Amino acid sequence: MTSRVIPVAPFVLTVFGATGDLSRRKLIPALFHRDLAGQIPDDATIIGCSRRPLSEEEFRTFARQALVDHVPAAELTGPELDRFLGRLSYVPVDVEGENGWLELAERVSKQIEGRICVHYLATAPHLFGPICEKLGKYGLSENGARVVIEKPIGKDLASALALNQQVGRIFPEERVYRIDHYLGKETVQNLMALRFANALFEPLWNNAHIDHVQITVAEALGVEERAGYYDTAGAMRDMVQNHILQLLCLVAMEPPSSLDADAVRDEKLKVLRALKPIDEHNVANVTVRGQYRAGASAGGAVPGYLEELGSTRSETETFVAVKAEVENWRWAGVPFYLRTGKRLASRVSEIVVAFRPVPHSVFGEAVGPIDPNRLVIRLQPDEGVKLWLMIKDPGPGGIRLTHVPLDMSFAKAFKVRNPDAYERLLLDVVRGNQTLFMRRDEVEAAWRWVDPILEAWRNVKEPPRPYTAGTWGPSASIALIERDGRTWLEDGA
Ligand code: BG6
Repeated sequence: MTSRVIPVAPFVLTVFGATGDLSRRKLIPALFHRDLAGQIPDDATIIGCSRRPLSEEEFRTFARQALVDHVPAAELTGPELDRFLGRLSYVPVDVEGENGWLELAERVSKQIEGRICVHYLATAPHLFGPICEKLGKYGLSENGARVVIEKPIGKDLASALALNQQVGRIFPEERVYRIDHYLGKETVQNLMALRFANALFEPLWNNAHIDHVQITVAEALGVEERAGYYDTAGAMRDMVQNHILQLLCLVAMEPPSSLDADAVRDEKLKVLRALKPIDEHNVANVTVRGQYRAGASAGGAVPGYLEELGSTRSETETFVAVKAEVENWRWAGVPFYLRTGKRLASRVSEIVVAFRPVPHSVFGEAVGPIDPNRLVIRLQPDEGVKLWLMIKDPGPGGIRLTHVPLDMSFAKAFKVRNPDAYERLLLDVVRGNQTLFMRRDEVEAAWRWVDPILEAWRNVKEPPRPYTAGTWGPSASIALIERDGRTWLEDGA
């Protein structure tokens, strides 16, 4: 099957923080790729904004370099590169002062006729509120304009509420797009396809048939030059509060009545609200925090977290494992083991749905144990799905059973380029489709669950457990799952 390219409506996109890292690494390449695919109409324009006093030409040079750095050279040889650069213009704007705003407002008003207006705030989060205020003041929130923001949406519930309120004063909720880039990943959407487009899984998708679920988002990289930000966040805020809880919601939610944004988000919200609270009474039993020490990764020696931070002391966790529970009829008694960390043994993001064993074996003891079925949904790298089944070991010699995967790698099965999450999400904003964006109450519900964990960690005053870079985290995280008679399953196992 070939992928379909459906052009979106013409738009004017302003990118605040246009010369920053997110813009350079993700937004400019994503927009270019969609343009290359023919999805961006001729009269769509992109206005870069940042404090830097660049000329239009200098901004185009910056964008060209971003493409050279992040797009395969073979894709930059045609006339499409100049067409894309021709869409770009630039206005220097002091987002906290008044400079540049009138010029920007004028530029947008000249272009807005018949186009959709989108403001992407690729800036530090403390600027989201002030920028929205200015967008309101200069008339840039009118004409149905949409605003895009990205995590961190606050550092706890109180700051998230305040931020959502600031943004909400100018933009109504249906025009606020909160990006969690995990929701734009191909396999995350495939999770919905697997669950709701197959009759096979849904009848088994409950505590009568599922023993437990594992969600692992492991990274081989350390924090490197992001140590300054990371030290104020830690793995719980950086990964669990958003990406991992979103994955958990998609696994655990009830079937929505449709893929309409609110139908899906209502169901995810119910899952977040059903999470069993973790506080100082149970935090030691169901969570593990870790911090990496020097070790080896990809064959080379790598420094520890403290060395990367340039400090001798930090209590910030670079690894978290949590045994979460969803307290409702479908999931009562089914643990969701979550773990994420930097500098782990490999880069792999996977969801493992582990089914219960068969109730009775008709085979004699000689055939060995009957391993339970497992569905492994791999987000990255090598996206795909594996369904582990017991089959008869082929050939003569009587019945012997063996556990094998039905293994589908999407890259091998389909010769379609897998778009980066930002490509899909950016165009969804233009399409006005909020299904893959977090609603305000979802973000707040996630903080309501996370806040007491952070508080309990603060009160317990135990430093994160050390683990050697290049391993699977502190041994306590292995004990966390093994206490329940289960083990972490790695690399599609
Ligand atoms: C970001 C986190 O949201 O996700 C980073 O802030 C993390 O710390 C990144 O590295 C992981 O994203 P991906 O798409 O590479 O898995």
